[in-house]
Amino acid sequence: MRIDVVTIFPDYLAALDLSLVGKARRTGLLDLRVHDLRDWTTDRHRTVDDTPFGGGAGMVMRPDIWGRALDDVLGGPPAQSRLVVPTPSGEVFTQRHAEALAGEEHLVFACGRYEGIDARVAEHYRAAGVPVSELSIGDYVLNGGEVAALVMIEAVARLVPGMVGNPESLVEESHGAAGLLEYPVYTKPPEWAGLEVPEVLLSGHHGRVERWRRDEAITRTSARRPDMIEALDPATLDKHDLRLLAELGWAVADGRLARTPA
Ligand SMILES: C[S@@+](CC[C@H](N)C(=O)[O-])C[C@H]1O[C@@H](n2cnc3c(N)ncnc32)[C@H](O)[C@@H]1O
Repeated sequence: MRIDVVTIFPDYLAALDLSLVGKARRTGLLDLRVHDLRDWTTDRHRTVDDTPFGGGAGMVMRPDIWGRALDDVLGGPPAQSRLVVPTPSGEVFTQRHAEALAGEEHLVFACGRYEGIDARVAEHYRAAGVPVSELSIGDYVLNGGEVAALVMIEAVARLVPGMVGNPESLVEESHGAAGLLEYPVYTKPPEWAGLEVPEVLLSGHHGRVERWRRDEAITRTSARRPDMIEALDPATLDKHDLRLLAELGWAVADGRLARTPA
């Protein structure tokens, strides 16, 4: 997979040399390049922004400079590259987006600063046939798109086949196909600070461990993310799941799970 990041702070992306993403870069699994937007400026001061039309506070990033940069970096036939624009006004990035992006051949991240990138940039590339994703990493505002790009690149890269040593570890994770949060995890020592690892995990009984983990995942999701329980398809749940959910205050009504009235 190829990923390009265009930013006015290339050093921000140095973290991509570390850990599994860094290793994937070194082994050639991931071809990741970071570009300085200012390399496409033409003035002495390497200016990338200007005042907003219509007035108001702050500065806006100029479309002509972004256009020159993205024409170069997107390169090739448009269908092979996707432009990703991190923005707090985008769709909220989820594991589903990460899965979809991991299937792309080439991603180009355009990191905004100031009040953001002139809106014509996304409009222009969409009209030219380039798939464009405007994505937010959550309902808060950062100073720039670099941290958002780091978040998305890490979430996407770990789904690229060969990136994570044991692909089994991706299967039961939070936000996976089961639509649940992950169960609590434990390691040695079996007793620490007066707290013991649940006995069932030491039993060696595979079936009981599986059932306990699923029950914990359902219980945790019900307490922390009731929106995820509401989104479950009851047809994918077994009798035991439905009994546990009833104990936790959920019932199936009109083909979906809803809180039972208190
Ligand atoms: C200060 S923000 C601009 C905010 C913009 N004026 C608004 O209110 O929507 C500057 C840049 O940070 C990035 N950014 C800020 N918050 C973000 C978020 N929650 N998700 C993704 N990118 C974000 C975007 O690249 C954005 O262009």
